[in-house]
Amino acid sequence: MSSSFDFAFAPGLPAPVNKWSGFPKYNFIGGHNDAERVPVAQLIAAATAVLTREGSSLATYGLNSGPLGYRPLREFLVRKLRWHAGIACDADEILITSGSLQGLDLVNALLLAPGDTVLVEEDCYSGSLSRLNRRGVQVLGVPLDQGGLRVDALANRLTDLQRRGIRPKYIYTIPTVQNPSGTIMSEERRAEVLRLSRAHGVPIFEDECYSDLIWDGRRPPALYALSKGVGVIHIGSFSKSISPALRVGYMVASWDVLARILALKTDAGSGALEQMVLAEFCAAHFAEHVEKLNRGLNAKLETLTTALAEQFGTAAEFDPPKGGIFLWVKLPDVVDTQRLAQVALAEGLAINPGAEWSTSKERGNTRLRLCFANPDSETIRRGVATLAQICQREFGVPSRIANINR
Ligand SMILES: Cc1ncc(COP(=O)(O)O)c(C=O)c1O
Repeated sequence: MSSSFDFAFAPGLPAPVNKWSGFPKYNFIGGHNDAERVPVAQLIAAATAVLTREGSSLATYGLNSGPLGYRPLREFLVRKLRWHAGIACDADEILITSGSLQGLDLVNALLLAPGDTVLVEEDCYSGSLSRLNRRGVQVLGVPLDQGGLRVDALANRLTDLQRRGIRPKYIYTIPTVQNPSGTIMSEERRAEVLRLSRAHGVPIFEDECYSDLIWDGRRPPALYALSKGVGVIHIGSFSKSISPALRVGYMVASWDVLARILALKTDAGSGALEQMVLAEFCAAHFAEHVEKLNRGLNAKLETLTTALAEQFGTAAEFDPPKGGIFLWVKLPDVVDTQRLAQVALAEGLAINPGAEWSTSKERGNTRLRLCFANPDSETIRRGVATLAQICQREFGVPSRIANINR
């Protein structure tokens, strides 16, 4: 498609996107939430209360709270981060962002130049990988196991890089409900990651996008908490706990970092109404809402794993996560999940092929990520049956198809 702007486009732009044509019938991709668990009535009440009380402050940029974001929301986060993640910070160490994606962009803009090196978990959020690739950064994967990032492998990587005179700009980790593996890093490993980060002078970029979604609510302290904020930048989000459409995330960092980040955040503040409604809602209902949400998500995970076991038998290998919205599945080596994803999409079923979620294409090629939060239980069951049929037709896996009335 050519346009009269062709001559004017800046060099190095990403490929244009396709027009959106609606969600597929069986949608196992994206970080969508459970539609039935959006607390609509309470959000309406929160919006009415906060607008009635403070609506006139919409006349100002920044709601009389300054560039860090709506103060009551930051104050809620101070309390939540303390009770939930063990972080002791004050409201001026928190910046509200337009989703945690803006946090990722800001941290990358602050720290990275083409040719830099960063360390990430081998299987990793594709939005982070694509951002790093676009910046011309060398991305090195560190293997994970069921306990999250492998600290022995991290130590080897760091020692090897040091020998070669390379100091990575940061270690990016999703320690609490990792995307895509769903693992939770133990406190001992966190301490070791921090020790290595200090020994090698490499900061940590901690992404806690999913840390509210843990079935039993139990989690180790955040790396930011254990480090007392030294050498760690922490980001989080309301996307997974309440709604991704609201586009509200946050960053926790010491003032010397935030002062530089604010100079890069040139949008005159993230959306005010969303921040006001969230602050009002969260102060009253956050904990109780998240508990309910988690019960529903856990039930959907159970539906998904049961359906996979019925349809794929032992051909689908996975470790059920302790929280989150994804299942990371390994299929036999004959299956190319990139091709599986393409064929399935043409038939109305979307999955995330593993190659986009891993620094090792070979590893990713036989893996796929399934998001179970948005489809209802019946759609999960039918979707898995459809996926098994397509996979058998294309790759002979699974060897036999279970009988399901589709
Ligand atoms: C690990 C991770 N970080 C950040 C994000 C961005 O989320 P948001 O911008 O909606 O907060 C996502 C979204 O799926 C994610 O998986």
